[in-house]
Amino acid sequence: MKAITIAFFDTKPYDKDYFEPFLKEAGLPLELKFLQARLGADTAALAKGYDGICIFVNDRLDAETADILYRQGIKLIALRSAGYNNVDLAAIRGKIPAVHVPAYSPHAVAEYAISLLLTLNRKTHKAYSRVRDGNFSLVGLDGFDLYDKTAGIIGAGQIGRIVAEICRGFGMHVLVSDPYPRQEWAAAQGIRYTDNRELLTQADVVSLHCPLTPENKHVINRETLRYMKPGAIIINTGRGGLIDTKALIEALKHNRIAGAGLDVYEEEEGYFFEDHSGEVIQDDMLARLMTFPNVLITSHQAFFTREALSAIARTTVENFRLFFEKQELPNEIKNR
Ligand code: NAI
Repeated sequence: MKAITIAFFDTKPYDKDYFEPFLKEAGLPLELKFLQARLGADTAALAKGYDGICIFVNDRLDAETADILYRQGIKLIALRSAGYNNVDLAAIRGKIPAVHVPAYSPHAVAEYAISLLLTLNRKTHKAYSRVRDGNFSLVGLDGFDLYDKTAGIIGAGQIGRIVAEICRGFGMHVLVSDPYPRQEWAAAQGIRYTDNRELLTQADVVSLHCPLTPENKHVINRETLRYMKPGAIIINTGRGGLIDTKALIEALKHNRIAGAGLDVYEEEEGYFFEDHSGEVIQDDMLARLMTFPNVLITSHQAFFTREALSAIARTTVENFRLFFEKQELPNEIKNR
């Protein structure tokens, strides 16, 4: 059988490390090229001569890029992520099928969302630096008990439901919003479905777990921030575009919310996953966010556990195998 060639965009050393064991196990004639470049119209030519491409969250597959890939004869687009807001689905419709990894470890992301909440609330990141600096003062490190407070989870899918259950474990009241409610699950967990308005008005902690779609863009905006409970904490491990960053900065400046834990950012492609420590940050909104003492930013690492990386590699290799051997697409991203 002729080797199947795949160009991987935006790779780091760990991608190779996690993919290689599954490639050996699959025993397929797959030839992978691990590229550091991110996919975009200016780099799409790197995929010339390959059968498929594999991309991650900050590769951008817009209409122009899709057209170049199509003309180059790319047969499959495999996302090694769950979210696919970076792919112009209309542009690839009827031309190149796209697959993703619908679930790899919802626990990885849910546990990370909770770690952002605990860190931000109890200020362990500050305590760590203080103590290393010989400063044993507690002044300013006070947080609040999660017990008996209300958590609001927007998007009760695979990840959101785990976050909701962990919050119940803390003894919190939990409100969730989702257009497809699972009433049986909610009743068994003592959780209540409601709309975003009530959820935001009542919640002491709001965590975002819905996908970024045109409808969900800026689900947290100037208006919704206005009716959030003063003193509430907002956690975003979903996608940056779920929050209107400008409105968030205004709310933080006016102390309308207590803090924000952000693993994702609207314009993260310019910075996240790379070392920019020797440069002046040109993104003024990111720079402003970084100055707030009550904002905790991490570089899209919620997925980053050994279990999740292995599951991503296993499913992606299986996606290649099923498509190139049998023309099957069980994890196809449906063009809605
Ligand atoms: P999922 O598809 O299982 O759940 C998403 C849920 O959101 C669905 O139940 C859907 O009905 C609901 N939803 C859609 N629009 C909504 C709205 N306007 N209001 C309330 N609910 C709404 O997806 P999963 O696996 O739970 O992942 C959620 C998101 O988390 C992904 O789309 C992705 O963007 C993000 N993610 C982030 C990662 C990270 O490393 N930071 C890693 C993996 C996923």
